[in-house]
Amino acid sequence: MNARNAPVGRSLMLVNAAHPVPASALPERLERVRGVNGDIPLERTAARALRGLVSAVGGDGLVLAVSGFRSRGEQEAIWDEAVAENGVAFARSYVARPGCSEHETGLAVDVTLATEPYDFIRPSFPDEGIGREFRRSAARFGFIERYRAGEEPVTGIAAEPWHFRYVGAHAPVIEQLDLPLEAYVARLRRGTSAERPLRACGLLIWWQPEGEPMPRTPFPLIGASVTNEGGIVLVGCDGHGA
Ligand code: DAL
Ligand code: ZN
Repeated sequence: MNARNAPVGRSLMLVNAAHPVPASALPERLERVRGVNGDIPLERTAARALRGLVSAVGGDGLVLAVSGFRSRGEQEAIWDEAVAENGVAFARSYVARPGCSEHETGLAVDVTLATEPYDFIRPSFPDEGIGREFRRSAARFGFIERYRAGEEPVTGIAAEPWHFRYVGAHAPVIEQLDLPLEAYVARLRRGTSAERPLRACGLLIWWQPEGEPMPRTPFPLIGASVTNEGGIVLVGCDGHGA
């Protein structure tokens, strides 16, 4: 694969209050994962990665999905109910505005343990035992903990230790750089190009303005993703010849 024929995916699609979900980001293929009340849908690649992650940490039947893909209508109903039951300040902290939720892309999943009390908006996912194992292995399977404590001013959402976002090959890099997704995408946009890629975790990663012709690359490309920020991010394998 070279840059000219790399399939452009959505794994690095930025979604937040300032970056609504474009119609083109709706998941094309959904697959079900095991949930608290029966199986729930996730975007297919994310679903397969989550199954692999849960299985790798010995969590089959124990780590369960609370919420995965939501339609805009479902997000609206969740928002309205949260406002009615707990007020606007609570809803703003824990529920994305309809049209601005990562759940609408199918790339986000809320998880809990079968042993924890059930709470749809704020599920419990302790950072111990299997929860800790899950977090330690998440990046290897393409997931990041999306809303971390201390990053609220950037993400606009309170700490949500149960909400994981599939970002594919970027997950180990984001973990290593220790950045919220907003800052990672901004760093790629401002600081990288085909001539000056970010080198991390055996990868070459760089920003390509949307609409510009794709360059030929002397190394294998792993993938490409839209960002919702006016550019495409390309990922190549470092240390390989053409
Ligand atoms: N709980 C997250 C922020 C959402 O509603 O998408
Ligand atoms: Zn969530």
